[in-house]
Amino acid sequence: MIKFRNTLSIKSEGWQDGYGTFTYSFRDKDRVMETARLIFEKFKTGDFDNYFGLVSNEDVMKMISGKAISPEEAQTNFEKILSINDLNSEIGYYTVRKKETDEFIGLYKIIMIENGEAEIGYSLLPDFWNMGYGSEISEELVKYAKTIPQINCLVAITDPENYASKRILKKSGFKSVKICEIDNLPSEIFKLVLKNANP
Ligand SMILES: CC(C)(COP(=O)(O)OP(=O)(O)OC[C@H]1O[C@@H](n2cnc3c(N)ncnc32)[C@H](O)[C@@H]1OP(=O)(O)O)[C@@H](O)C(=O)NCCC(=O)NCCS
Repeated sequence: MIKFRNTLSIKSEGWQDGYGTFTYSFRDKDRVMETARLIFEKFKTGDFDNYFGLVSNEDVMKMISGKAISPEEAQTNFEKILSINDLNSEIGYYTVRKKETDEFIGLYKIIMIENGEAEIGYSLLPDFWNMGYGSEISEELVKYAKTIPQINCLVAITDPENYASKRILKKSGFKSVKICEIDNLPSEIFKLVLKNANP
């Protein structure tokens, strides 16, 4: 059964895969997506506490920025997130909740970076690691990106020692293309070509 939460449902479409039926609907301009176990909604003003709970967690941030984020930095980042979400209907930063309990468990992003390339990223609260949620999000993101005409290629940047994230990306079809430093942090760049830019 497909549930639309507070949704002005204009259209829906779904398909089956290992995680069940995926469905898209449109709420105002925002897409609400769900998998069998998770529901994804764009960040809104009232989500700051959940966002801060995630980015102020040292274990979560260890492989991202190397350290937890201060309240001030989090507030600045959150405002950028809201403005990106406001400006774009099909991409942005999304909350991840468990459908069963409605608990906030993390976030993901899908944002355009340059010429047909979009960057994806995801973070989960430690209580929800190793339950397959990261893989479920990544697979959904790849499927979703294939439906966006402007996206030719997906990029993900991870710490070379973030073995869980690397495993998720490889399972989703990404290939490692470069190991380097970005903002003084060790980084490994992964790419997944979805379609040729000039067929
Ligand atoms: C990275 C993260 C999203 C992983 O999410 P998750 O839900 O725990 O991942 P999953 O359970 O879907 O799968 C992880 C896979 O990596 C494997 N894995 C986990 N730790 C591993 C390790 N240390 N070495 C090798 N493989 C590992 C798991 O066995 C699993 O593989 P499988 O599907 O073949 O069994 C989560 O740990 C997280 O949010 N970390 C903090 C933020 C972060 O690092 N984000 C990514 C930034 S690039």
